[in-house]
Amino acid sequence: MSLKNPLKRETEYHFFSGKGGVGKTSLAAAAALDFSKKGRKTLLISVDPAHSLSDSFETKIGGEIKELQKNLFAVEIDPAKAVEEYKEVLTPQLEKMSALKSLGLEDTFDIAGMTPGIDEIAAFDKFLRYMHQKEWDIIVFDTAPTGHALRFLSLPDVLDSWVGKIIKMKMQFSGMINIFKKVLPFGDSEEDVGGAQLEAMKERIEEAKKILSNPKRTRYTIVLNPETMSILESERSLSVLREYHIPVSTVIVNQILPENPGCGFCTEKRALQLKKIEIIKEKFSKFKILQAPLFRQEVKGIEMLEKLSKQLSPS
Ligand SMILES: Nc1ncnc2c1ncn2[C@@H]1O[C@H](COP(=O)(O)OP(=O)(O)O)[C@@H](O)[C@H]1O
Ligand SMILES: [Mg+2]
Repeated sequence: MSLKNPLKRETEYHFFSGKGGVGKTSLAAAAALDFSKKGRKTLLISVDPAHSLSDSFETKIGGEIKELQKNLFAVEIDPAKAVEEYKEVLTPQLEKMSALKSLGLEDTFDIAGMTPGIDEIAAFDKFLRYMHQKEWDIIVFDTAPTGHALRFLSLPDVLDSWVGKIIKMKMQFSGMINIFKKVLPFGDSEEDVGGAQLEAMKERIEEAKKILSNPKRTRYTIVLNPETMSILESERSLSVLREYHIPVSTVIVNQILPENPGCGFCTEKRALQLKKIEIIKEKFSKFKILQAPLFRQEVKGIEMLEKLSKQLSPS
């Protein structure tokens, strides 16, 4: 990897996933801060509509990339807004889509199911745009709670199957192709999409898939708490991630109670947590396991984020 030559720079992607409230945003923000301090130009992206990155850094971030400090940039994609932008383009096209039925594509391109899928498409479109910007050494991605994030990550497969089918059928209906051009990401060209462009689109999707499944380029971290529900949920996400060939490298057990001999309740609770950590070590033995303590204060502001990265330790 050559980080010095910007033309040869290969961006690394770090995803943080897990149930709501486990500490994804805090750990993603702490990791991004850490990378930036090591001199790597880092972009932190959130798709959380609650805008919690702004809370983590105690500064308004918003929908445009903002420089937080040297080498550290952040952006909060508002999924609802992204969907609105898409819907404006889509609404007039939806009726025409009934034509898909005659092409036998309705199973892969579910018209009724299109609307709920739009948020992933819109978010994925935005993500791809950042993903293909060559200027970043690292992009850290603070994802929505796992279920949502997994659907989002499966999108390349879905798109690939539509596109593959379209190419196979050698579609010559330029009207139809125009519909796809508007629905799919990368639809910014004004010209008609011909076979060559469909091939190019498929290549871009393939590239995104390749990057997302390449452990040298993509690190996927699952964040969990030492609690049964959190462990079960992480196991489920791991099996789905495996299906999509997404390489998980690390599991972080967050919010572990520190020792507190003066407090009976805390001591008991900590003992229970330590038992769960043993279970986590067994179940996730293939992964690097890190742990972080529960702090008295919330993880807000640069100082607390730094403290969180410093206290991340091997489990
Ligand atoms: N190790 C920790 N110690 C103390 N508070 C934490 C810790 N990790 C996360 N928090 C707090 O818990 C809440 C949820 O964390 P957050 O990172 O927003 O989780 P998620 O993004 O998974 O929903 C936030 O208020 C955050 O400051
Ligand atoms: Mg969050």
